Amino acid sequence: MEQFDFRRMSLYQIWVRSFADGNGDGIGDLYGVYDKLDYIRSLGVDGIWFSPLYPSPNADFGYDISDYRNIHPDYGTLEQFDRVLKKAHELGLKVILDLVINHTSDEHPWFIESRKGRDNPYSDYYIWRDPRPGKQGHRPPNNWFSQFEGLAWEYAPERDQYYLHVFAKKQPDLNMDNPKVREEVKGIMRFWLDRGVDGFREDVITFISKDQRLPDGLPFLPVINGMPFYKDGPNLMAYLREFRQVAREYGALQIGEAPMTPVKTALTYLCGEDRVLDMMIQFDTMMADCFLTEFVHLPFRLRKLKRAFSRWQYALAGRGWNALYLENHDHPRVISRYGSEKLWRESGTMLAACYIFQQGTPFLYQGQEIGMTNIRLDTIDKYIDIASIRAYHAYFTHQSREKRMRRVHESSRDSARTPVQWSAERNAGFTTGTPWFHINPNYTTVNVAAEEGDPNSILSFYRRCLALRKGSETLLSGSYREYQAWRGKVFLYERAREGERILVICGFSHRPQRYRLPRGFGAEGAELLLDNYPEAPALGTLRPYEVQVYRWRA
Ligand code: NOJ
Ligand code: CA
Repeated sequence: MEQFDFRRMSLYQIWVRSFADGNGDGIGDLYGVYDKLDYIRSLGVDGIWFSPLYPSPNADFGYDISDYRNIHPDYGTLEQFDRVLKKAHELGLKVILDLVINHTSDEHPWFIESRKGRDNPYSDYYIWRDPRPGKQGHRPPNNWFSQFEGLAWEYAPERDQYYLHVFAKKQPDLNMDNPKVREEVKGIMRFWLDRGVDGFREDVITFISKDQRLPDGLPFLPVINGMPFYKDGPNLMAYLREFRQVAREYGALQIGEAPMTPVKTALTYLCGEDRVLDMMIQFDTMMADCFLTEFVHLPFRLRKLKRAFSRWQYALAGRGWNALYLENHDHPRVISRYGSEKLWRESGTMLAACYIFQQGTPFLYQGQEIGMTNIRLDTIDKYIDIASIRAYHAYFTHQSREKRMRRVHESSRDSARTPVQWSAERNAGFTTGTPWFHINPNYTTVNVAAEEGDPNSILSFYRRCLALRKGSETLLSGSYREYQAWRGKVFLYERAREGERILVICGFSHRPQRYRLPRGFGAEGAELLLDNYPEAPALGTLRPYEVQVYRWRA
């Protein structure tokens, strides 16, 4: 079946537990989503990506799946999912589901069987290895660390073997080299595609093929020492081709999540008619204020961000297609990172324009469109994300509690997981019950209701940006070029097509900045398309966190 044109679209991501509670039990659900579909459409987006909706013990909030063909009872039923899907389609919204097949929950029936012994139909569904002899009896098969907790191996006495878990202990990695597992994956894809979904966001898809020798990694590299042996692995292309076959039958969209995959490698997945993925969630643009992991925080550097933006824009030009994003459920809120909470409205709007007008399909994460910011809870036991809790207890333990809490405030995924702030009413209008997680106290001013009525709000600005992009062939399909890359406080880029050039000029500073138009652009012909201050802009000067978008016609 022919694929729909994802290049002209933009997508809205829902992490359902914190989106909107429809039945008053304090947990976001598909009843809440149903009621908000008109709102989502009103933003000007064309589709929704749902983070996992499936049954899950929630060790990693849905990314540990115990049943691939059902809906978590907290979120509703399959029937309610069908209702959401139908209404979304009536509104012209595509629906993309998260496909998490690098691992399952340890409570998935496959794993429960698999760990029982070496001779049942599921024995080889996971990656099991014999122990190595050790001083105290035995030790794990290699020295890999998991991304979430300690070593990447867990011993199962029933089999007298270890299983591999690149993430949490409760997320055993599937053995994708087993053809039966790949058939299961295709069956799951068909199950949802037959129901009518339009594609998948494929979780850590570049991790699914392991180097079967499972060699030791470099001992001094924590967390990522096994990565060279499980990222972009030997059979990855072959497996992705198999899954692509299924997607093609339905014309389904495939977006692959690829932590630490460099753009050069990304090209092998993303290019041409026989590409295996349509877009890739890269991590380069999430690294402008940290080192390797967000827990190691550094001051924000615009030059690093611009380099990442341009690297992907140039490499994919005419060959592949970018997924553009600044937020999702895995990263703290972007205003708190790359903008300024003090100049909240100014930086929130500028950040919107700085990425939406690049070449690619923009993704918005729930709450981003109203400028939600990081929460700062006072003690670690108030946090729920396994990665944040682990990092607090495992790293920088010689530092004071205050310093480590500051690290959590800067890096925690929980900052993106507080309930969406719908209004200034009780519980931010998220629920009539007791909210399952802390609500950011700034909800009295940062909320949908307050911003709906304000033409200068962050919400109104996102709508303007998405509408401007949709109405402009140059912004949709024109070329990209960055100017004045050396500048540390200004990001300046062009989108161009025959007969038209657009410049996006973004100030990343609390202070006013001066800029010069690049050669070939004259002040005379400049036509203002967009600005984020209510008062008229001046060409050549940016107010704090101002963005100006101008057009020149030939
Ligand atoms: C990426 C997901 O986005 C993240 O939330 C999850 O923890 C890991 N993959 C493991 O599934
Ligand atoms: Ca609920």
